[in-house]
Amino acid sequence: RSVRSAVDVAELRERARRRLPGPVFDYLDGGAGDEVAARRNGDAFAGVRLVSRILRDVSTVDTSVDMLGRRADSPLILGPVGLTRVFHPEGEAAVARVAAAHGIPAALSTMASTAPEAIARAAPSLDRWFQLYLWRDRDAARAIIERARRAGFRVLMLTVDVPVAGERLRDVRAGLQFPPSVPLRTAVGFARHPRWVWRVLTTEPIDFATGGAARTDFVAQTNALLDPAVTFRDLEWLRGLWDGPIVVKGVLSPEDAVALRAHGVDGLVVSNHGGRQLEGAIAPIEALPAIRRAVGPEMFVAVDGGIRSGAHVAAALALGADAALVGRAYLYGLAAGGEAGVDHALGIVEAGLRRTLALLGAASPAEVTAEMVRVETALRV
Ligand code: FNR
Repeated sequence: RSVRSAVDVAELRERARRRLPGPVFDYLDGGAGDEVAARRNGDAFAGVRLVSRILRDVSTVDTSVDMLGRRADSPLILGPVGLTRVFHPEGEAAVARVAAAHGIPAALSTMASTAPEAIARAAPSLDRWFQLYLWRDRDAARAIIERARRAGFRVLMLTVDVPVAGERLRDVRAGLQFPPSVPLRTAVGFARHPRWVWRVLTTEPIDFATGGAARTDFVAQTNALLDPAVTFRDLEWLRGLWDGPIVVKGVLSPEDAVALRAHGVDGLVVSNHGGRQLEGAIAPIEALPAIRRAVGPEMFVAVDGGIRSGAHVAAALALGADAALVGRAYLYGLAAGGEAGVDHALGIVEAGLRRTLALLGAASPAEVTAEMVRVETALRV
């Protein structure tokens, strides 16, 4: 059946689960430790109560917003994801084309399986954001930043919630390797998915961050590359290397948000990395209202974690976000049906956002205000 017959993201997730070998689906779907944070990201939305306003003209809903100096057609960003081509060989290039067609930015991960130049060729009109992990080797980090700049990336997004790799027990059990390989003990599971194995084996090798890296334990590789000693001082170093907007991803504390603003950072992503890093982390939408209060109305604040529908995006706007990053929602689509699946996943979220804004009585994201939301105690605005 066509991927477009899926009515919601949960259905795309189910199709992705059936299509991918177990360990690959688990790498996509899993979270840190007992996955309490990953579950809470989704559950927290159940604590949000929307209060609609009535008798407002919502015959046209305009979802476009300013995104750090460039207009986007909706308040959405396709978030950075490592090794996207293990989900589907079209990988990051397909994601970039879909984002460009929908008029929204996409962020390319430092751990991407497609080179920044290839993204520029695949989607020249895309508002290209580059997600940076600061490597121990600062010359290598500088070279990556320079490469992103030359490939026309506009916004630098520094992810700061991976001082060390989180412990994803599903990956530990499967013996996940980096770059991915088929560990013997899970070979049986892979053998049930010959189409996936064929596709991955016949895809060009990963040519960016992972290029030349020895095949090794995923966690060991992450810890060997990433610098756990990064501090606010490094932001000044970064500022000297990058003229465009800088966004810091992985903020959960209002104090940190204020400090980032003081260091001249242009925007934040309130995020717990999809519950894949700090076990037990607060859900980003729970953390969002206090962060918005702390930094004031001007700073660009995006949020991610558990966004699976347009109603979730509307809730994020009401709680103080300017935009939402989408992570697993589009990956489920990618795994379920390649580029058409990403397009469909994004279409589901966008259609839901338009509908929710109309039902809320808001003709634009700017008309979604804090008074349209009541929250449980933990979420008090
Ligand atoms: C991620 N995420 C991530 N973030 C980042 O800054 N760099 C990266 O390389 C990755 N890689 C990655 C791989 C996979 C498989 C997933 C699921 C996530 C985190 C991602 O950008 C985002 O913060 C979360 O995915 C948001 O939560 P949801 O939408 O997936 O619930």
